[in-house]
Amino acid sequence: MKVFNTEAEWRPIWASIFKENKKIGFVPTMGALHQGHLDLVAKSTASMDVTLVSIFVNPTQFNSSEDFKNYPLTLESDLAQLEEAGAAYVFVPSVTTLYPQPTRLRFDFGDLEQVLEGKFRPGHFHGVGLVVAKLFHLLQPNRAFFGQKDLQQVAVIKRLVQDLSFTVSIEVVPTRREKDGLAMSSRNMRLNQDERQQALLLYTQLAQAKKDLLTGIPWDQVRAAVEEVFSKATNCQLEYVALVHPETFEIFDSFTQDGPRSICIAAYVGQVRLIDNLPIIQ
Ligand code: PAF
Repeated sequence: MKVFNTEAEWRPIWASIFKENKKIGFVPTMGALHQGHLDLVAKSTASMDVTLVSIFVNPTQFNSSEDFKNYPLTLESDLAQLEEAGAAYVFVPSVTTLYPQPTRLRFDFGDLEQVLEGKFRPGHFHGVGLVVAKLFHLLQPNRAFFGQKDLQQVAVIKRLVQDLSFTVSIEVVPTRREKDGLAMSSRNMRLNQDERQQALLLYTQLAQAKKDLLTGIPWDQVRAAVEEVFSKATNCQLEYVALVHPETFEIFDSFTQDGPRSICIAAYVGQVRLIDNLPIIQ
């Protein structure tokens, strides 16, 4: 496995991969890897000739400097896991490599900015769009792999690819969960033992909401029940629970079965903000 830091190092490697007509699978990450990331790598190694991973904690997508400062950094163990998982190349750029000058261009993903993550984390999707566009330009992969846990991010990336005519294809990989159901996330590393237990509420409430919806309980009652549970929980602050179209992110006030539907949730557990979602109808 080769680790590199600059575009100049990648150019000749890319050229020889291209010459051999091999296809590059790309897994962009911010490090602090867990099994969810390794699932993306496994998908890539299974279907692509060469797997490239990037590790970069992207400052422009954090709308809270505290959150950026506290983001876990585990480069050494990340590289060991990637080697074991069969990644061929790992791009670890510095901030100045990706941002040689302050960026004036602003991404605005329209309606996706108005709801859920777009609304609660202003500027977040600008930063995601910016860094992913830079990575696609610099690395020119054939296919890129993203986790379903960041469902709205997937919608943003797909819009980015479509609107800017990137030729990369996007593959979405199901959320990897702990045995008890908690969605794997790099942020889970920041939870203490009590918070780790409390964090389970996101998944248990999603699962309960899905069950209730499918047994015919109206969405407004289901949502009120989730809100009620969170209002009584210690140390947990619900930001939103919403019934959405998983691609357009249209928000629904009632549950109909005439298209795909997912429930999305975001909550603070102590100081740690977590998100999760569950498909109701695929
Ligand atoms: O999902 C992530 O880890 C990040 O948002 C991404 C896609 C690597 C961009 O920094």
